[in-house]
Amino acid sequence: MDANLKKLLPFALKYKNHIYMNVFFNIFYALFSTLLMVSMIPTLNVLFGLTKKVYKEPTYEGIGHIKAYAEEFLNYKITILTEENGLKWALLFVISIIITTAFLKNITNYFASYHVTRLRTGVLRDIRQKLYHKIINLPVSYYSERRKGDVMARMLGDINEVQNSFFQILELVVREPLTILFSIITMFIISPKLTLFVFAFIPISGFIISRVGKNLKAKSVKAQNENGIFISILDETLGGLKVVKGYNAEESFIKKFNDSINRLLNLSNSIGNKNNLASPLSEFLGIVTIAVLLWFGAQLVVEEHALSSATFITYIALAYTILTPAKAISKASYQVKTGLAAAERVFTLMEQENTITDTRESVDKPSFDDKITLENINFRYENENVLKDFSLTIPKGKTVALVGQSGSGKSTIANLLTRFYDVNEGVVRIDNVDVRDIKLQSLRNLMGLVTQDSILFNDTIKGNIALGKPNATDDEIIDALKIANAYEFVKDLPEGIHTNIGDSGNKLSGGQKQRLSIARAVLKNPPIMILDEATSALDTESERLVQVALENMMQNRTSIVIAHRLSTIQKADVIVVMQKGKIVEQGNHDELLSKNGTYSKLVSMQSFES
Ligand SMILES: Nc1ncnc2c1ncn2[C@@H]1O[C@H](COP(=O)(O)OP(=O)(O)OP(=O)(O)O)[C@@H](O)[C@H]1O
Ligand SMILES: [Mg+2]
Repeated sequence: MDANLKKLLPFALKYKNHIYMNVFFNIFYALFSTLLMVSMIPTLNVLFGLTKKVYKEPTYEGIGHIKAYAEEFLNYKITILTEENGLKWALLFVISIIITTAFLKNITNYFASYHVTRLRTGVLRDIRQKLYHKIINLPVSYYSERRKGDVMARMLGDINEVQNSFFQILELVVREPLTILFSIITMFIISPKLTLFVFAFIPISGFIISRVGKNLKAKSVKAQNENGIFISILDETLGGLKVVKGYNAEESFIKKFNDSINRLLNLSNSIGNKNNLASPLSEFLGIVTIAVLLWFGAQLVVEEHALSSATFITYIALAYTILTPAKAISKASYQVKTGLAAAERVFTLMEQENTITDTRESVDKPSFDDKITLENINFRYENENVLKDFSLTIPKGKTVALVGQSGSGKSTIANLLTRFYDVNEGVVRIDNVDVRDIKLQSLRNLMGLVTQDSILFNDTIKGNIALGKPNATDDEIIDALKIANAYEFVKDLPEGIHTNIGDSGNKLSGGQKQRLSIARAVLKNPPIMILDEATSALDTESERLVQVALENMMQNRTSIVIAHRLSTIQKADVIVVMQKGKIVEQGNHDELLSKNGTYSKLVSMQSFES
């Protein structure tokens, strides 16, 4: 069995009752389909006036003679009806048999589909659920190496593909083979000789069909990857619309997009072609089989009188009904191939190993008591070390500021403290406990984070702020907004804290967004605050107010402040000056100024600017 199919199995087994019911109804469906064909025999016989006359009601002699009994009984009924009420009534009788069988066939069809739908939609929901769980738990680093669109394509396109093909598999496994089986059994009962012919043709057709379907899987993997690329372009276009328009980059984006969808077009055409070939091919091969049957069977009828013409016509009809399921199987087998390619992509993501997780030894760390230490840290995102043998101690209750040129590794330190990334060498400790040994949830409970770019969601102001404290009251929210100096604009909004702020908060100004991010951290009220350039988008006036607010908030707290504007960190207990992943100077504002080194150079440069 295919490995991906095996992985799908547990998802399906959760709905095994629906599977059982589907199989149950499909068995009857297949049975009634065959019976519907067989019920043509008496009708044709009545029409041609070929019904064998039976005047004595037959007696039932057990299951072994059921065929003979059924035939005799029908003939008896028809004979009596024809003699007593006329041909019209006999015909009505046989037609009513057809209608009843057709009704039963279709009602079982409905119930079989009913259960398969439950199975499909359920499996779809469960896979999505599990995949989302994975996506949200994978570390930040996973996504910086990948296209977001690719992850989205797996979530949207691939899962759908899986559910469609999965549905096909179920039909493939149960209904169609049973229909074929029942038809073949009946055909065998009618004429073993002719049926052997059919058997000779099945492997030949199967071989031809599988040749055509080759490479389908590889092609569809390529198509799904391309899907990821095109979703990425769409996503980036929407996210960066202002830049795209402002730089007149529409043309180049359109070109990128067109290139991608044209590649997709070619792949889809090639996949579609193969898929489209599946059913005509099997139909044609089927007709060829039937043609041979006609030629050979006609001799049996005409020369050897082995079959009645009504039986022969029914036999041909039965052989023809095998075509529909055979077509379905060959088509499904193609779709299953593309489906499995999609499943592979879904499972690759689902099974992606998470490098930043809790282990069994992870401990709870409910409080922060003493100090944070970074000890001899070497860290790299890719090849080059971004932090080099970096050591720093942050005592509880102190404010430590990180300054330094762009790219010197300031945000990286925030990434390591919050354990978005793990160090390559060295260790980050909180109260002498390695952060890798602390439960992630517990670790992040200790920290409030205001990121360099304000990250807001399409939700109300309240919803955005209450992220770390979902059951906060309106009053608590308002207090947090006041501390962050954000309430002055929030209170003027039409619906106050219940105002929706648009996609990533784009109904707000940059400074407003930043103040909301600060309010979010304020509300969470953690012992350790990490502020990455938190005041950069504020005007001088609100910067001053936020500054005061932050200072209040930082008083009984440990803070790591990353700032470009040196005015905001003059009161910090320790200022750490970084250069290319190393500390070049360390001390408070006055100490560093008197050193007349890098820091004082930075300060004089900034006062020169302003
Ligand atoms: N996800 C990443 N993958 C690869 N390299 C990265 C990644 N993030 C940052 N870097 C690299 O690491 C180095 C340090 O980046 P970092 O973001 O820590 O700088 P920074 O001091 O915060 O700069 P800035 O003041 O501009 O915010 C940079 O050279 C950057 O190119
Ligand atoms: Mg940074």
